Amino acid sequence: MNQIYIVANWKMNTSISDSINISNMLINSNLDHANINITICPPTLYIYPVYQILKNSSFQIGAQNIYSEDNGAFTGEISARMIKDFCDTVIIGHSERRQILKESNQDINQKFISAKNFNLNSIICVGETIEERETGTAKEIVTKQILSALKPVSNFTNTNLMIAYEPVWAIGSGKAATAKDAQNMCIHIRNTISEISEEKLSQNIPILYGGSVNSDNIKQFISQPDINGALIGSASLDPNEFIKLIQKIK
Ligand code: 13P
Repeated sequence: MNQIYIVANWKMNTSISDSINISNMLINSNLDHANINITICPPTLYIYPVYQILKNSSFQIGAQNIYSEDNGAFTGEISARMIKDFCDTVIIGHSERRQILKESNQDINQKFISAKNFNLNSIICVGETIEERETGTAKEIVTKQILSALKPVSNFTNTNLMIAYEPVWAIGSGKAATAKDAQNMCIHIRNTISEISEEKLSQNIPILYGGSVNSDNIKQFISQPDINGALIGSASLDPNEFIKLIQKIK
């Protein structure tokens, strides 16, 4: 796979002026990012202003979450049907949503089905906690997360699915996984996908690593054979650092 995927997850950060400023800086940076697919995921409220700036550029826009229903009496929620006019992609099952907002594997599966119905590209996040890692159950947990998110869906492809391996202990901690450990889990993810799809398809699904990625360590991750890109939190909030990170990939 020649393509590298970089996804910026701003989480519940940025003001309206930060969002506009970062988007303008990206556009004006004249970043040469042929073969690097870059998706910016602002907070829901700022998707539209960011879309206004990036819509005719080579940057793509993603949402950080959706609800599984298309519309109706679901106060405070937002659907795939609503975001599809502005976004190409949606992050589903981020560990912060699993842990803080108690999303289950079943919720994640329903969201994936909804995103797929509206031709959105889903980034399904998986990853173990520190306790699961220490008790040796990390692979088992990740297998369960993947199979329960995907299993009833048979026709996913590399245009509607990416997986992000984000070990919970590496997120926002400044302690990234080693590239070797991340690669091992990404092979495991690919093998798990091949159990429910054709071997060739599992080879083509982009698998990203996330957790304390920055301009200093990005190269170690993307030079691994089974890591096709990165999901980036903190380092995507500083436009200079984010631009530097992209330049390092070149
Ligand atoms: P950090 O890059 O801040 O560790 O966040 C990773 C993440 O959760 C991206 O979704």
